[in-house]
Formats: sequence, structure tokens, C-alpha cells
Amino acid sequence: MEMVAAPISKSNQVEYPVADIIENRRSRRAYAAQPIEPEKIKSLFEAARWAPSSMNEQPWAYIYATKDQPDLWNKLVDLLNESNRVWALNAPLLILSLSRKAHLRNGANNALARYDTGSANALLSIQATELGLNVHQMGGYDRQKAIDSLNIPEAFEPIVVMAIGYPGDPESLSENLKLREEAPRERYTQEFFVMNKSF
Ligand SMILES: Cc1cc2nc3c(=O)[nH]c(=O)nc-3n(C[C@H](O)[C@H](O)[C@H](O)COP(=O)(O)O)c2cc1C
Repeated sequence: MEMVAAPISKSNQVEYPVADIIENRRSRRAYAAQPIEPEKIKSLFEAARWAPSSMNEQPWAYIYATKDQPDLWNKLVDLLNESNRVWALNAPLLILSLSRKAHLRNGANNALARYDTGSANALLSIQATELGLNVHQMGGYDRQKAIDSLNIPEAFEPIVVMAIGYPGDPESLSENLKLREEAPRERYTQEFFVMNKSF
């Protein structure tokens, strides 16, 4: 008998009210050339600093560079897959997010380190939205190259690269990227991932 999978319901609308800052956050690819004020960069990391973490381990770490530090900035942009580099090289700020693998208190593996680093990155992204900045996280980069070119010690692992800047004109993008930039954003509806019963 042929199995027919139930269609997965998606929508490009917010189904229930959320804070404007959540609705307004999005991962754009067009960046303005305008540099980011240094105190705003500090605020991004401050938001990460106040993220919750398992046993308050705070396993996140960041390497960042602005375009006026070309040596370090180029090292970060060179990590990216070509499909990301084409647009991310217009971002005035690049950040590599790292996670400390072991607990500081006893050296045991911290199974929740990546989870906590993701929380910190989420708060950083929300703070960026509050400041009018766009964050685009990228998993498409060369992790081994990051370890080698940035001398990352064994205690840490690279998680994502983030391209950050003020939103730019989508017309500055290639036709293909412009279409993606302007396409409606879709999400699975809550019925797909929220349960009020056992599996
Ligand atoms: C961990 C992670 C890795 C991602 N990697 C990439 C990437 O390599 N390239 C890219 O263009 N977008 C990447 N994204 C962005 C997602 O595609 C994007 O968040 C998703 O399509 C939802 O769009 P929105 O952030 O605008 O709501 C990544 C996002 C996350 C959280």
C-alpha cells in the first residue's frame, strides 16, 4: 500500500502575537557600507554575556574583526564557502562564534556547550535587531581552516560565522540573491512542532 505523507503546514505569517523585535529579525544578505559604532559592537557581546547557560558555564567565545582590521577580517572572510563569501564580504563586521568544549570547573565534557553558545548567539542577534543591525549566521565555512588560521586551541570548537552590518539595498545583490532576499519567509506552523500529548 502506498503511504502518502501528510502535508507539512507552513505559513509566512506570524500566527500569534510576538514581540516586534522577534518579528523584525531576519537574515539579510545586503549590507550598507556604513561601519558599526564600536559601542554597538560592545553591546552585541554584552547581550551574549547575559545569556543563560547550563551551570552558568558561559561556554561561548568570539573572535571578531571589522573592515578596518583587514588582516583579521580577511582571515574570517576567507573561511566562508564561496556561496556565502559573495555577499558576506560586504558586511563591515564578521564574528566567529566558538564554544568551549569542557566544563571549566572539572574538565568534563560539556554536552550543552553548543546549545548555550546558540543561546548567546540568539541574544546577540536580537540585540543587533534592537540596534538596527542585521545578523546573518553561517554554518557554511571551513572549520578546519578556522582552527588553523586563527590558532584556535583544542579546548574550543568553531560554531558559526556571523556577518553583521546595517541593512543595505537589495538592488546591490545579484538577481538570484535579490530574489532570495525579497522572498517571503516561511515557517512550519505550530501544529508541526508543538505537542500537548505524548508522541
Ligand atoms: C546555524 C545557522 C547556520 C546558517 N548557515 C547559513 C549559511 O551558511 N548561509 C546562509 O545563507 N544562511 C545561513 N543561515 C541562515 C538561515 O538560512 C536563516 O536563518 C533561515 O533561512 C531563516 O531565515 P531568517 O533568519 O531570515 O528568519 C544559517 C542560520 C543558522 C542559525
